[in-house]
Amino acid sequence: MTARKVLVLNGPNLGRLGSREPDVYGATTYADLVADCEKTGAELGLTVEVRQTDDESELVGWLHEAADNQYPVVLNPAAFTHYSYALRDACAQRTAPLIEIHISNPAAREEFRHTSVVAAVATGTIAGFGLNSYHLALRAITTLD
Ligand code: DQA
Repeated sequence: MTARKVLVLNGPNLGRLGSREPDVYGATTYADLVADCEKTGAELGLTVEVRQTDDESELVGWLHEAADNQYPVVLNPAAFTHYSYALRDACAQRTAPLIEIHISNPAAREEFRHTSVVAAVATGTIAGFGLNSYHLALRAITTLD
């Protein structure tokens, strides 16, 4: 049997992990995150493809691709979380589990981060566990169909 493909999609500024506000997001680089997700995925019997973009339309396109192919998605929408109805509408078209994740805990941060326009159309949300949020989401995918 071929391993189930999962898309791990990252929104704006997450490509700068490692140098971006390390006090909030840690010192691990984006390249490390990619390698880590692929390794965890392989251990869980998943084929994980990790992508990052600063561009809303590209992220929407990837969500369409996931919907068309029944790919589960682990999504860190980054700042789009808080205001992108286009992203929310793309997530609503999902045909497989979609887990919203955050490295930090947005509920414990500035007021504008307390709203997620994506949460209501996600399968669930994992936030506040650092990069472990990604691992927990991949594990959650294996428990859902
Ligand atoms: C984030 C939290 C968002 O509020 C922020 O805009 C990000 C990263 C996180 O992973 O903690 O870019 O999604």
